[in-house]
Amino acid sequence: MSYLDLSPLHHAAGIVRLPGSKSISNRSLLLAALASGTTEIRDLLDSDDTCVMLSALRTLGVEVQSLGNDAWRVTGVGGPFPVKQAELFLGNAGTAFRPLTAALALSGGHYKLSGVPRMHERPIGDLVDGLRQIGADVGYLGSNGFPPLEISSASLRIDAPIKVRGDVSSQFLTALLMALPLVCQEKGRSAEIEVVGELISKPYIEITLNLMARFGVVVERDGWSRFRIPAGIGYRSPGILHVEGDASSASYFLAAGAIAGGPVRVEGVGRNSIQGDVRFVESLAAMGARIEMGDNFIEARAPASGKLRAFDADFNHIPDAAMTLAVAALFANGPCTLRNIASWRVKETDRIAAMATELRKLGATVEEGVDFLTVSTPHPSPLTPHASIDTYDDHRMAMCFSLASLAGVPVRINDPNCVAKTFPDYFAAFASITAPVVAIDGPSASGKGTVAARVAQALGYHYLDSGSLYRLTALAAMRAGIALDDEAGVAALAAALPASFDGERIRLDNDDVTDAIRTEECSSGASKVAALPAVRAALLDRQRAYRQLPGLVAEGRDMGSVVFPLAEAKIFLTASVEARANRRHKQLIDKGVSANIANLLQDLRERDARDAARSVAPLQQCADAVFVDTTNMDIGVAVDTVLDIVRDVRGH
Ligand code: DC
Repeated sequence: MSYLDLSPLHHAAGIVRLPGSKSISNRSLLLAALASGTTEIRDLLDSDDTCVMLSALRTLGVEVQSLGNDAWRVTGVGGPFPVKQAELFLGNAGTAFRPLTAALALSGGHYKLSGVPRMHERPIGDLVDGLRQIGADVGYLGSNGFPPLEISSASLRIDAPIKVRGDVSSQFLTALLMALPLVCQEKGRSAEIEVVGELISKPYIEITLNLMARFGVVVERDGWSRFRIPAGIGYRSPGILHVEGDASSASYFLAAGAIAGGPVRVEGVGRNSIQGDVRFVESLAAMGARIEMGDNFIEARAPASGKLRAFDADFNHIPDAAMTLAVAALFANGPCTLRNIASWRVKETDRIAAMATELRKLGATVEEGVDFLTVSTPHPSPLTPHASIDTYDDHRMAMCFSLASLAGVPVRINDPNCVAKTFPDYFAAFASITAPVVAIDGPSASGKGTVAARVAQALGYHYLDSGSLYRLTALAAMRAGIALDDEAGVAALAAALPASFDGERIRLDNDDVTDAIRTEECSSGASKVAALPAVRAALLDRQRAYRQLPGLVAEGRDMGSVVFPLAEAKIFLTASVEARANRRHKQLIDKGVSANIANLLQDLRERDARDAARSVAPLQQCADAVFVDTTNMDIGVAVDTVLDIVRDVRGH
């Protein structure tokens, strides 16, 4: 896909389960590889950067095995890598390149490391200088100070403190810290690292130290300038290790909640996170956003006043998440300045230059310095629509700029697939909190199905006929010989329903069941399985997955109350029981089925009573739903009435 067009968006609300943290994933993989014992890593990030690390470890003789569900088993080699000769291609994964360089330099073999052209423009000289101080043989195959690198076996010594610069990338220090136990264990001597210059991105060093300690190596530190790695201790597997959700990835959703209403909740990180980027929420709170934090979630909502406050602050501690704030600045009530962000210039791209260029396309005035950025947007003029945002093969550029669409302007994101570096499903997750939802409910034969389908067509939205999922579940259960009151059995079936929707046709296991699910037997089966709470729960995620851009019309019983409680528009469509009986009568006659109005009337009355009395998901009008009585409307008028309501809630 060469570009993705985001439609104008106005509201963000919902829940996102975060992918695993990139920083924790790649550090854990390396430490587990070097450790003695087997480690099971759970919730590992599935992305380009972790694939790079996994395949490098395999090449180096480490056994890594997928256990499914993002769990991996790593059989540690208990010291330096066993494969002594290898060539590694590491893409643009800094979190693989730097630590592997250090670990291989201390592994006593012959290795070549290279990456994509951008990786060869990202400095590594400070790390190589550090490694050379202990006798490592690391040479440059291209320009001095940059990858690609060649490493040869050398005799190592750790008599004097190793000096390393801390002001270009904290990853150099991280790489040295993680690799040094290899030598300290073998030599029975401790090692000392002295940081020269001010250490940037300190929270990332905390992640490193925290994970090393989990693997049995406790580093002593004196402030942020001296680190001592103990003698004679190698890494030991902690057994099972859970990877937290990625706090940097969380920043986009939390910002969306702060910008566009909310609440948006991210799950997978919380107040006890070891990732420095959770401090992003302090910056959002300073802008006035309302934040709530739990052990395993963070939630953000717009300020009570509705308007985010401008800021002028130092973001050295959260360089990655700060990019999100540069775009959030478009929504602030004045000029915003991000200071002390020089490290942006040596990331996936020169992020200061890239950010300035792309923000200007949206109509912002941007002042760019060596290590700062000031963003101002003329108020109250809206952002420039139809900006075509370039992403520079930088996942964070693509993710940040999706937020601009929340200003209600269409935005084009070029090369959106670059998000695969850390978050392959980013745009689906973004859609799941921003795509507008119109929820339509009403009694049997109110015409809600026909109206909902036409409204979806008129808006160009996706359409969810939730009743068909209950009908399909009933049919699948009957075909599989599962009793309709076997709650666990039917729920298991519902969770893995092999159903597909292809235009008007509905298939179950490739069998066209479009007509089969409309039989009386299936209707009555559907109403039985729909009364089982476990079945309703099993279908929840499947229904929510329909929330995609540009929007969704969802029809059925609990669309506005349970499945999409934060739907932008909720409509309760009804008609007098007589009108509904007449409509059903006409439908049946048109189909060539003989029918009797009096019987239909009685059927509907009974069904209404049953539906309203049901203990699970009874038919009722949501308090915030708009009531539409279609007794005297034909379909066209009913559709127009609903479309008017949708326009009304959007205020235009
Ligand atoms: O709308 P329909 O007739 O296709 O629905 C089939 C059955 O499923 C009906 O008994 C109502 C029930 N249902 C439900 O409980 N919740 C929904 N969201 C949709 C339908």
